[in-house]
Amino acid sequence: MNDTHAATISLIERQFLQLVPASRFQFALPSSATSAEIKYDAVCDLEVQQEVYSRVLEPAEGRGIAPAYIVAIVKAMVAVIENAGEEVDGDVFMLMINLLRHPTPPVPPPGPVTYKFLDTSITITETRNLISGYGTTGFRTWEASLALGEYIISQHLLPSTSPDRALDLSSKRVLELGAGTGFASILCAKLGSRLAVATDGFEEVVLRMRGILESNQVEELVETRVYKWGNSSGIETGSVLEKESREEEYVYNEPVDLILGADITFDAEGCNLLVSSFDQLERQNPSVQILISATIRNEETIAAFETYLAEKNFAFTVIPANPHPKWFFYDAVPEIRIYSLYRATK
Ligand SMILES: C[S@@+](CC[C@H](N)C(=O)[O-])C[C@H]1O[C@@H](n2cnc3c(N)ncnc32)[C@H](O)[C@@H]1O
Repeated sequence: MNDTHAATISLIERQFLQLVPASRFQFALPSSATSAEIKYDAVCDLEVQQEVYSRVLEPAEGRGIAPAYIVAIVKAMVAVIENAGEEVDGDVFMLMINLLRHPTPPVPPPGPVTYKFLDTSITITETRNLISGYGTTGFRTWEASLALGEYIISQHLLPSTSPDRALDLSSKRVLELGAGTGFASILCAKLGSRLAVATDGFEEVVLRMRGILESNQVEELVETRVYKWGNSSGIETGSVLEKESREEEYVYNEPVDLILGADITFDAEGCNLLVSSFDQLERQNPSVQILISATIRNEETIAAFETYLAEKNFAFTVIPANPHPKWFFYDAVPEIRIYSLYRATK
């Protein structure tokens, strides 16, 4: 098996574990596309098909991945191979036939989604086909988190002497706002931050997040707090969770070095409150770095965010989300921007 074969198997495996929909699933490396066509030689190779079968497809149901998802991907893979006029591996074909024999529910139940990066991974039980809205919080990781994660990893991989290095996680105290599943905090913990504090405004989301931290074995590295944006008493709100840990030392009373947020700029009122949180936290540590990954669903809302920032004297640079992510899979539409914020008067 050559390098292209191995990289193609890895591409298929990583997309599959992230439950990338069949409509967006890639069966060939981006480098194998010419302007006229995509070359599917690697996935058509029988040894590659067998490896995809034994490593990815066959164990999937046992790992809790919904049969409806498995069959959608197997069908798409078979179609690609048949369209190329090549032979489909017998095991892959039989898997498709067997899955098609059993009716599958149209809406897959929540299942494990695995994000593989470097030599580690994060697994979260998610309902992937949610649309953004009330009552859906904490049940899936949104694209803006993946784009932010991609940026954090790319920075982590730069040599410390690189002029492009703008972020160093080592010995950083990270605070995540509107963390949902806690994806960004877990990622930072896995990359060596000193401590991450993952906060969300809703207690049920925070309680669920605790389970996610435990199943990813980072509960010692990531703390959880209920925190509603703009709360003037800081991160210590009067929730049950907060009272539970009242006797403990309040580590987050120490200023944080890095504030992260993903997909938290979705309404103007929330943006206003968020900016007042930045204002308070920046006063505790004027050298704090603030990175907010925003999905641009509505230009007016993001314009309101920028106006609130200006009112509190925050300037920003925009880091475009990587359109060719290496580790995670997300759509380029709607646009995702990472805002790097700093106090303008500095
Ligand atoms: C679209 S989700 C993004 C979750 C996560 N950051 C991600 O990218 O997957 C927005 C998150 O903000 C939280 N949230 C909404 N309003 C909030 C508020 N006023 N204060 C704190 N958190 C809030 C929600 O509970 C939810 O987890």
